[in-house]
Amino acid sequence: MDVSDLRLRLSRAGQEHLLQFWDELDGAQQAELYAELQAMNFEELNVFFQKATAESSQASQQEKVDARMEPVPREVLGSATRDHGQLQAWESEGLFQISQSKVAVLLLAGGQGTRLGVAYPKGMYDVGLPSHKTLFQIQAERILKLQRLAEGRHGTKCTIPWYIMTSGRTMGSTEEFFTKHKYFGLRKESVVFFQQGMLPAMSFDGKVILEDKSKVSMAPDGNGGLYRALAAQGIVEDMERRGVGSVHVYCVDNILVRVADPRFIGFCVQKGADCGAKVVEKTNPTEPVGVVCRVDGVYQVVEYSEISLATAQKRSPDGRLLFNAGNIANHFFTVPFLRDVVSVYEPQLQHHVARKKIPCVDAQGRPVQPDKPNGVKMEKFVFDVFRFAKKFVVYEVLREDEFSPLKNADSQNGKDNPTTARHALLSLHHCWVLSAGGHFVDENGSRLPAIPRLKDANDVPTQCEISPLVSYAGEGLERYVANREFHAPLIIDENGVHELVKNGV
Ligand code: UTP
Repeated sequence: MDVSDLRLRLSRAGQEHLLQFWDELDGAQQAELYAELQAMNFEELNVFFQKATAESSQASQQEKVDARMEPVPREVLGSATRDHGQLQAWESEGLFQISQSKVAVLLLAGGQGTRLGVAYPKGMYDVGLPSHKTLFQIQAERILKLQRLAEGRHGTKCTIPWYIMTSGRTMGSTEEFFTKHKYFGLRKESVVFFQQGMLPAMSFDGKVILEDKSKVSMAPDGNGGLYRALAAQGIVEDMERRGVGSVHVYCVDNILVRVADPRFIGFCVQKGADCGAKVVEKTNPTEPVGVVCRVDGVYQVVEYSEISLATAQKRSPDGRLLFNAGNIANHFFTVPFLRDVVSVYEPQLQHHVARKKIPCVDAQGRPVQPDKPNGVKMEKFVFDVFRFAKKFVVYEVLREDEFSPLKNADSQNGKDNPTTARHALLSLHHCWVLSAGGHFVDENGSRLPAIPRLKDANDVPTQCEISPLVSYAGEGLERYVANREFHAPLIIDENGVHELVKNGV
């Protein structure tokens, strides 16, 4: 270890405090800290910090974004509800693309899941469904089912490669989990793990923060760290080698996600888009969700905190909110677009700063849990590349069909937690059974009302879970349920229909 050289490098970059506890560390701790600091590029880090903080102060002084915003024009918008007549054509196009193995999915699973507060990756979370499937398993089974649907339609064997972005904190346990569960029935070669970068947390004056005496406080560089990771790990080349034409990018925490949704893929392909976003209608002006719109003629996501209430409340003549394209981090990219992003545009993407309470050590090396923000994390966002699209489109879907994110623990608040995620999936599957001609009855054999009378968000919906291996989006259920009556809890899986209470399970 050449500590004096490291000390020099640190002092040139204004980060010499990182070795302040060096003499108190044992040999192993010194070796660990040395290796960690040697691997860091402090000049680059300082530039990131300066640019990100300059951008954030510029943004606050900038002319309000409100005046420069325009809603998504109807000609680039497809809607699962308003364009009913075209859904079949889009779906057929998507299934054709999938049958040719031209579609991949890319999962963003590098987040720390701090709000959920479990020590393992969020995809391994079991929200308490009757089957106790984890988020990873649900997504894997949707991929398997979609492959089978495309194969059935076109008579060709196909693969949907699954790229899974993890971070330093989630890589090992994610891979182990997949190995333990035999890749949930997928072929091992079609699942590709790759790791995003990490950046140190910084104090407000640009000093790297120590988590303890021998360890830098590191965090993943945001879901927009995707693009740097794609480049660093040759993932776009891998896509090209496999002949993939387009990619569906999504977040790990949406229990309802329609991975590689053929309608969305088909819509984007038929529109000739290189980049697309799936959105849900924002109906409440104060809902904390970013909206897809144009600013100075360029597509982007504007966060709810960036606009005034008056703008958020504006309505179009049809009564809907003017800025209603709620971003749910479900994106379509062509592979040539991703190639351009990684080769040309990525360095132009700026980090954003998020002020956070970052556990650290004080001048004496004692651990501190701050009660107010003491520094920043620097993150890029996955949607930051919209502005480079040559043809950008937006596809609107129903929230109750496709979006219920898992962000918080049950104890924290009543929103976006394991209970709401579980209820969203059970309610959707209950609707699927009713739409396919099935009925639910109570213990006396009387039919339950089709629209469940839930008193509040904590009330339990009809317990009905359908394996993704049986139905991807509600299709093909008639043969299991039409004109039949069921007692909940009901599970329908590859082994048939199971009424848990009736069978005394
Ligand atoms: P969130 O911003 O909700 O973060 O991520 P999170 O890590 O899940 O949860 P908190 O904020 O710490 O509580 C949205 C999606 O982006 C991914 C997450 O895994 C999730 O799928 N993500 C986030 C990354 O892949 N990398 C990151 O650096 C950050």
